[in-house]
Amino acid sequence: MGFTIAIDGPAAAGKGTLSKAVAAHFGFAHLDTGLLYRAVGAKTLLGAEPIEAAQELVAEDLDVDGLRTPDVAQAASRVAVIAEVRAALVDFQRAFGARAGGAVLDGRDIGTVICPDAAVKLFVTASAEVRAERRYLELSAKGDPSTRDEVLADVQARDARDMERVEAPLKPADDAVLIDTSDLSIDEAVAKAIAAIQAHTL
Ligand code: DC
Repeated sequence: MGFTIAIDGPAAAGKGTLSKAVAAHFGFAHLDTGLLYRAVGAKTLLGAEPIEAAQELVAEDLDVDGLRTPDVAQAASRVAVIAEVRAALVDFQRAFGARAGGAVLDGRDIGTVICPDAAVKLFVTASAEVRAERRYLELSAKGDPSTRDEVLADVQARDARDMERVEAPLKPADDAVLIDTSDLSIDEAVAKAIAAIQAHTL
């Protein structure tokens, strides 16, 4: 069994950046599990049936351009409420979590459902306004025309869908360490995460 770190939290809380930094620090592999749902969501936008798309997903599907757009994010959040879609993606995530060299998985239900025995669980959050502002800056730098208000509405809609769904809703595991990044720089958030992980492994 490998050493597994579970990092959960809402959209644009900084999970991706934190997870990559933590994985690099400890020399672990990293899986952004949101990409699985985005890949399924992207296929549904092209007309695929969500459960079939999830059951037929292959690693190469994660490596295509265009998975980071707001439309695909919403489609991902919509397919993520379907129990059969989630079930089809469990084995891949658990196998990744068990890899020998150690693994960091980030998502919504890693500490609660996918890897409930993870050695360390972090729940990374920030206010909806801070998260929307970060996402807005990211998107506008890429030339996306979305306005601040649209991005905030998007983040709030995804929060509601991710937290209110019946299947594996977004919530901290009972034993998760909470990190609120609202007032933290990236370096400060990474330092907090690494300290929390080290405190759990001493
Ligand atoms: O982390 P992200 O923004 O790439 O995730 C896109 C959507 O996928 C998110 O709104 C909900 C869903 N998701 C999920 O339900 N469970 C996960 N472990 C990861 C993502």
